[in-house]
Amino acid sequence: MQSLEALTREAAALGANQMPAASSADEAEVGRIMQICNACRYCEGFCAVFPAMTHRLTFAKNDIHFLANLCHNCGACLHACQYAPPHEFAVNVPQAMARVRVETYTDYAWPAALGALYKRNGLTLALAAATGLALFLSLVALIQGQWASGPLAANFYAIFPHDTLALMFGAVFLFAVVALGIGVRRFWRDQAPGPASGGAAAEAAHDALRLKYLDGGHGQGCNESDDAFTLARRRFHHLTFYGFLSCFAATCVATLYHYLFDWQAPYALTSLPVVLGTLGGIGLVIGPAGLLWLNLRRHPLHGDARQKPMDRGFIALLLLVSISGLALLAWRESAAMGVLLAIHLGAVMALFATLPYGKFAHGVYRGAALLKWSIEKRHPPRLGVGGE
Ligand code: HEM
Ligand code: SF4
Ligand code: SF4
Repeated sequence: MQSLEALTREAAALGANQMPAASSADEAEVGRIMQICNACRYCEGFCAVFPAMTHRLTFAKNDIHFLANLCHNCGACLHACQYAPPHEFAVNVPQAMARVRVETYTDYAWPAALGALYKRNGLTLALAAATGLALFLSLVALIQGQWASGPLAANFYAIFPHDTLALMFGAVFLFAVVALGIGVRRFWRDQAPGPASGGAAAEAAHDALRLKYLDGGHGQGCNESDDAFTLARRRFHHLTFYGFLSCFAATCVATLYHYLFDWQAPYALTSLPVVLGTLGGIGLVIGPAGLLWLNLRRHPLHGDARQKPMDRGFIALLLLVSISGLALLAWRESAAMGVLLAIHLGAVMALFATLPYGKFAHGVYRGAALLKWSIEKRHPPRLGVGGE
């Protein structure tokens, strides 16, 4: 029987002959590691990355970006690997995949010039945008002289007229949707996975909504700071994700109330928009706070340390949005309402504006990779060996 080293050398030689050259050192590193893993296959049951890897003998650029976005950075394969650093093979799957993911976001970004923002200091950018916008909106409100006159009985639109708000936020949100949509369409075109059946789409949605691949493959969860498994990241992510969706639903319901039924805010504490917003806001405080805590203590070999500012910038914006939103609800009848409203709107605007150029992109590209995997599973590519 051949040794693993011999198999690896053979696979690498095969790859070197057939694989179009990866266009960056980070892509080449994923290609190198996948050749080793494809010979070893110890981690086959951990997540979708390893079975998808076995559908390939060589790793072209699109394969590398597909696998990178399929990886959920759970850390299980790093902690299980006998070839992990300090072994000379230096196999670190989650780190190599994380480095390529930021290249996916950058390479497919629209407009292309803004793609570089993914590699800038995301934390500073996010906070600077939020502060700048909050200050600008405060200034607008001050110029209107509205809140100097005392409590406004929660009448937000006395400060910012409803139509102005809807127009400003609608335009920025639409831009974010278009920018992310164009990026992921380009990614999808390069992946060419073929049509998605209903079953494949339902499975991908299910895997994304449950965050299936943050369970470490055995249901006990990820590795965070050490070899112990924990479901904490999955649970905090659920609170964040569903909190975000609930806040978004609250805004949609309030917009329908306004335009369809002509019911004007402020709404009662027991109304649907306020209940959805409050529950979502609480989830969006606890979830991101927990994710930040885990991010700060994560094992140094997990993921890519250079992306921490981007991750933390996104988490900080989510926290700023949720905390300022809940504070606005609590003090909406007081004289502080104007200032709180300006801070909240500034944070929401900064979040919307940075959605296509920060960590939020992971949801879109990971969703696409999960869908591709569900399609590919049903129609595995032919390897062209052993009569296949
Ligand atoms: C298809 C949907 C989504 C999937 C499959 C997904 C998956 C993941 C995974 C696997 C991680 C952990 C690994 C990493 O650090 O990259 C993560 C991190 C994170 N996700 Fe999501 N996500 C989705 C959507 C969202 C949405 C909509 C939000 C919030 C609006 C969100 C917020 C976060 C945050 C704040 C982190 C940062 C955690 C950290 O830095 O440690 N995700 N997501
Ligand atoms: S990560 Fe390590 S143990 Fe897992 S398949 Fe790759 S080489 Fe094998
Ligand atoms: S880090 Fe987790 S999700 Fe990523 S390849 Fe390893 S086992 Fe799979």
